[in-house]
Amino acid sequence: MSGGDAVTSNNDLILVTGATGKTGTQTVRLLREQGLRVRALVRTLDDRAGRLRELGAEVVRGDLLNFASVQAATADVHAAYFSYPPGPGYIEAAVNFAQAASDARVHAVIEMSQIGVRPNTTHIGLQHWLVERLFDRTPLVITHLRPTLFMNWLNNFWIRSGTKGILRLPLGDVRHAPIAIEDQAKVIVAILQDPDPHDRQIYELFGAEELDWYAIAAKAQDALGIPVHYEPIEISTMVAALTDRGVDSDRVHHLARVTQDYRDGFYSGFNNLVEEIT
Ligand SMILES: NC(=O)c1ccc[n+]([C@@H]2O[C@H](COP(=O)([O-])OP(=O)(O)OC[C@H]3O[C@@H](n4cnc5c(N)ncnc54)[C@H](OP(=O)(O)O)[C@@H]3O)[C@@H](O)[C@H]2O)c1
Repeated sequence: MSGGDAVTSNNDLILVTGATGKTGTQTVRLLREQGLRVRALVRTLDDRAGRLRELGAEVVRGDLLNFASVQAATADVHAAYFSYPPGPGYIEAAVNFAQAASDARVHAVIEMSQIGVRPNTTHIGLQHWLVERLFDRTPLVITHLRPTLFMNWLNNFWIRSGTKGILRLPLGDVRHAPIAIEDQAKVIVAILQDPDPHDRQIYELFGAEELDWYAIAAKAQDALGIPVHYEPIEISTMVAALTDRGVDSDRVHHLARVTQDYRDGFYSGFNNLVEEIT
């Protein structure tokens, strides 16, 4: 328990939740590179957990849906990164975490949200917005991160057809600035090291350049040296394809909402906050 100390020292313990996930793993790696003490919360003691341990993190098994487990994970922690995948259980996990972290007198929390979140919507945009407001009501020093679509969307929807690459997505000709996971981890680590100036801030995070998916395909073509095309499709076509593939219906619903928000411009925009903060 480190209460009111502001700047994070090498002796302070930092908790990373979602430590086997995309931003969590990179955050653990960067924190350890800087010699900081890290507790990585994982659900399963698998190979990914083993790699976190090799980085020098204290790996603890736990479940954000289990309050006792969150109490144990937050004990003696100075600052924490909270991230939870969109979908069922998110609000419960956030309530558990906000209460346990406050009880443990954790000094600061960075909370992963999403660009375009707002009260007058349904689904994950509303859940993220409610979770932000919940953390604002705690005594914690709190920073909300609202990134645009991660760069790895490129991998998720990539189709290799013979010697060609295809990006088949229902994203129209709208632009966004894809953000790299490593850049987000740099932001998280910078704030974890000196959280107080970022208290109650909401940071929309973008990558270096706003592009539509035709331009993203052109960049992939240049990098890979094979033809790459963007094929815009309807949202209903994506929903049918994902459902046929057996993708979980909550996930399909989430992706359909994200793509509609994208088409409505909620993921567009640009700033240089990543550069400024890091
Ligand atoms: N992807 C995007 O383009 C995008 C854009 C903006 C914002 N976001 C936000 O980013 C967040 C996701 O971050 P991410 O992509 O870094 O995470 P991620 O790769 O989706 O990983 C999720 C992590 O949460 C862990 N987890 C799931 N349920 C848990 C539980 N009950 N208890 C403890 N841990 C649990 C997972 O463990 P297992 O691996 O063991 O399941 C995994 O480590 C979401 O809030 C999303 O809305 C994403």
